[in-house]
Amino acid sequence: MTDRPSYYVTTPIYYVNDVPHIGHAYTTLACDFLARFKRLDGFDVMFLTGTDEHGQKVEKSADAKGVDPLSFCDGVSSRFKDLAEALHFSNDQFIRTTEPRHAVSVQDIWRRARDNGFIYEGKYAGWYAVRDEAYYAESELLTADTGEQVAPSGAPVEWVEEPSYFFKLSAFEDKLIALYEDQEDFVLPKSRLNEVLSFVRGGLDDLSVSRTSFNWGIPVPDADGHVVYVWFDALSNYLTATGYPDDSSADFQKFWPADVHIVGKDILRFHAVYWPAFLMAAELDLPKRVFAHGWWTNEGQKISKSLGNVIDPFDLIEEFSVDAVRFFLMREVPFGNDGDFSRSAFVNRVNADLANGLGNMTQRTLSMIAKNCDAMVPTAGELTAQDNALLDTIGVVLADVRMHMDRQAFHHALDVIWKQVAAGDVYISNQAPWTLKKTDPDRMATVLYVMAEAVRQLAILAQPIMPSSAALILDQLAVSADDRGFDKLGEAGRLQAGTKLPSPKGVFPRMNLDKE
Ligand code: MSP
Repeated sequence: MTDRPSYYVTTPIYYVNDVPHIGHAYTTLACDFLARFKRLDGFDVMFLTGTDEHGQKVEKSADAKGVDPLSFCDGVSSRFKDLAEALHFSNDQFIRTTEPRHAVSVQDIWRRARDNGFIYEGKYAGWYAVRDEAYYAESELLTADTGEQVAPSGAPVEWVEEPSYFFKLSAFEDKLIALYEDQEDFVLPKSRLNEVLSFVRGGLDDLSVSRTSFNWGIPVPDADGHVVYVWFDALSNYLTATGYPDDSSADFQKFWPADVHIVGKDILRFHAVYWPAFLMAAELDLPKRVFAHGWWTNEGQKISKSLGNVIDPFDLIEEFSVDAVRFFLMREVPFGNDGDFSRSAFVNRVNADLANGLGNMTQRTLSMIAKNCDAMVPTAGELTAQDNALLDTIGVVLADVRMHMDRQAFHHALDVIWKQVAAGDVYISNQAPWTLKKTDPDRMATVLYVMAEAVRQLAILAQPIMPSSAALILDQLAVSADDRGFDKLGEAGRLQAGTKLPSPKGVFPRMNLDKE
């Protein structure tokens, strides 16, 4: 047992009606960045992702392919596992809602809510959008260009009438408003809280939480013919993964309530309204935060299968590199805002910040050391004010980075680190070790030592966003695996003069704007 603080971060679980695209990669990447950061910062982390496999949408997709739903889910779910591997995601678990342990958990939450008087039997008559797996009130519907009524998301709706169990969402209006007021930062970014508040203040209708017109789902306890509504089922995954309903489970005790559910803005209502209400009804603790990020467009256009402009993350990784993709997605757009993917933005960003930025700084430092210092960490003489200024600021940026990571302001966290890359660049240009080589070799050695130290610390800080490239840099500085945590920033992990270094290798190749 450790007494390290715990941190639990989750991605939404992905529908298996479709293969993974850049939007899915984005949500999981953000969680991976955060999880890796927290681990290096001394936390015991649980990072969960997985697939959402029940419901009408998945059943229809399986039917269209002429396969049984479970074999269909097996196939698509494994593509999401491949994506996790390809993007170097460090998730501790990959949950599938078709696992038997999940049915036990969902049924337990259901029984608790029911026994507390929050679930009753009735009949649903209203609009349903299979694409969103969501019910809509007549007043929410919009008229499409075709004249048809559609959901606010643009999804087609159908009229549904069936026996159903209802969840007494209406009983939670005041409690939810109190939650948003009392639990500061329950919804981030702040700007998104307004839409949640206005939805709740607009009055909450009871929610249909079982379906009887198809059967691809978890059976409702003690009610033949009913399957649990897919969102009640899906949201419960966050608890299942902790070992719930076994409340003696070590993971449940350690990790529940979750620190943050990171989700796309389209599914905020489910996470910030329905989920806390289900948990209150079942008398379970509420997550500490829901963060809603924005959506990516492709060269200015909405990404959709019908437009044929879906960005395949596997293709991107193959053409560029995993770390370039990871870096671009987190660095380019403020987390929480919408962003546009364009080839030119990608190539420009990666060339500026990686090839010319951290890469160039690393390359210059290591190749000068290899050529002029017997391929060993050089011995520093007395440090000047400029030397100390560079090392001292890099040594203390962690506090700022941490503050931004704790609010999921990932772009700010990277900005803080890359400001130090820029400071390192200015330092090396001003000190010009290539000139000192002839005039003052001892001073050259000191400057190269300071640069190597700067690179070491920046690489340690860059690990959560670019694990492989940062490792490659740290390998070249002969920093051992045990010395790569944030506790080794600053003085604690200083490079030792005389340490033999391997031959330097380029880390970030320049990218071409034109396709090869
Ligand atoms: N199965 C539900 C989630 C259940 S969680 C208890 C679901 N799945 S999804 O596969 O449709 O979407 C998962 C995530 O992908 C959402 O957070 C969504 O916002 C994100 N994205 C899908 N397309 C996107 C973009 N174009 N850009 C950014 N993220 C997008 O919803």
